[in-house]
Amino acid sequence: MTEEPPATHTRSPIFQDRPWPDNNGVPINAHGGGVMFHRGVYYWFGESYRDANSTEPQATGVRCYSSTDLCNWKDEGIVLARVKDPRSEITEGCVIERPKVIYNATTRKFALWFHLELNGEGYKAARSGVAVADRPTGPYVYLRSERPDAGTWPINATEAQKAGPKEVEALKGMSFSGGPSPETPKHNLLARDFHGGQMARDMNLFVDDDGKAYHLFASEENSTLHLSRLSDDYLSHSGEWVRLFEYKWNEAPALCKHKGRYWMISSGCTGWAPNPARSAVADSIWGPWKELGNPCIEDAPTGETLKLTPSQWKELGYPSVGGIPRKYTLGADHTFGGQSTCLLPIDGKPGAFIAMFDVWRPTNLMTSGYVWLPVVFGRDRFTVTWSDPLHPSLLDGRATCG
Ligand code: DGJ
Repeated sequence: MTEEPPATHTRSPIFQDRPWPDNNGVPINAHGGGVMFHRGVYYWFGESYRDANSTEPQATGVRCYSSTDLCNWKDEGIVLARVKDPRSEITEGCVIERPKVIYNATTRKFALWFHLELNGEGYKAARSGVAVADRPTGPYVYLRSERPDAGTWPINATEAQKAGPKEVEALKGMSFSGGPSPETPKHNLLARDFHGGQMARDMNLFVDDDGKAYHLFASEENSTLHLSRLSDDYLSHSGEWVRLFEYKWNEAPALCKHKGRYWMISSGCTGWAPNPARSAVADSIWGPWKELGNPCIEDAPTGETLKLTPSQWKELGYPSVGGIPRKYTLGADHTFGGQSTCLLPIDGKPGAFIAMFDVWRPTNLMTSGYVWLPVVFGRDRFTVTWSDPLHPSLLDGRATCG
């Protein structure tokens, strides 16, 4: 148990992949999540697992925490819970993953979207659930789930794709692995799901400067990302969308905007196991997107050093100023053991972003860890470097690096 920090305590470090106590001294339980900033407060939403002894693998709901300094978090409780009613899509046994919340300034409502799998169906349903609330901390009212973009073609669909394969009916009986496979690209999954809607698994949300919101998700058996503009109220899809990184098998995508350009981080598809992160950039959100490779690097380039000052070291109780301690066992080539979940802009610090990762522990998902690292923008790429702890002051001045 840790003591409640004093109200003036605003520069605490963030320790990587270690239990992160909330205001009650309980480890934060918000996995695959995202952080939304609203009126001076950060809200962290994520998958909440019941307890360490539970044999139930699925999250029991979406939990929210609030903070003004990104380090000290207050538990706001479960804001969307599964229900007992077996007829409900969010009945116990369903899978709720990667919840994200955005605020609609016109309707003044908060939209919560998540990846939903139906009770007893494994990862077959691949649906998007949506709920809405009047306040960031909920309660969120569950509206419905859907396979997005039914009956519409993406902006970049080819005529051949639109013509559809003759064997669409047969395709419905086929099963695909959800991971890289030479079989998947041979089939027109886009056409297969034209009428019923497109598959939607790992997902994220992004609100652009003009108020338009986007839903980014792994589709077509995880082979291809879809980026779909939401309706003006953020509660359905507009029908305007594109396919991205065809047959590149991306998961865990997250988006941000810096200096007018769009930046993306994602992972490969290896279940809960870490793999090399990926990154991409585009001048228009609709593309073309340029793949940039793994943004994680072992050491920050000259001029972008993340080393702590002697006083910071002293403050943190480290014995010497010998360099950044390396407590992780997996390096940059495996995303430091993590998988991306959010690119978080820091309020009041233009150009300062935190890349949020989950370190999954699939035998007990509640104990999965968090790795939050600073993003450093260069002219044509961005990098993510190990830093334990992440001291908030390390985010100062990031804007000058681009
Ligand atoms: C990887 C995804 O990123 C997670 O959100 C989760 O869906 C697991 N796969 C399930 O295996």
